[in-house]
Amino acid sequence: MKILMVCLGNICRSPLAEGILKSKATTYQIFVDSAGTSAYHVDNQPDERSIIVAEKHGINISNQRARKFIAADFDNFDIIYAMDESNFHDIVKLSRNNSDKQKVRMILNEIHPNKNNSVPDPYYGGNEGFENVFQMLDEACEIIIKKYAI
Ligand code: 4NP
Repeated sequence: MKILMVCLGNICRSPLAEGILKSKATTYQIFVDSAGTSAYHVDNQPDERSIIVAEKHGINISNQRARKFIAADFDNFDIIYAMDESNFHDIVKLSRNNSDKQKVRMILNEIHPNKNNSVPDPYYGGNEGFENVFQMLDEACEIIIKKYAI
């Protein structure tokens, strides 16, 4: 199972989602990566506040580097999780067919099916926003690992 986590910058939310899911997946056959719909931060490390909140929970995400989501990702991944509705629509815009489209999901729908809730963008807020994002993603990833890890 190959899973891609996607947000806008690939420096705050999706690097956390990638790190959290990987940390739960160590003994399972699962490949996890992340990307951004924008190219604003390509090649950058995750935001320091994401690195710190992950570290607080025993997860090292400092080796990740941001990259942009591309249409070829539809070929390389089974599930593509969007962090918010704007990411969802930007990803779907790049889909080439129905099979591509069906791979795209809202990550918080794993917790609250069909509600289409968004993981709030913590970029312009304080540190508590990053802890809040961590907790939401941890809950979603716990469900994901139980559903898809073989
Ligand atoms: P992310 O957060 O999408 O969770 O990585 C953001 C990072 C950067 C910007 C916006 C959101 N930005 O506008 O530069």
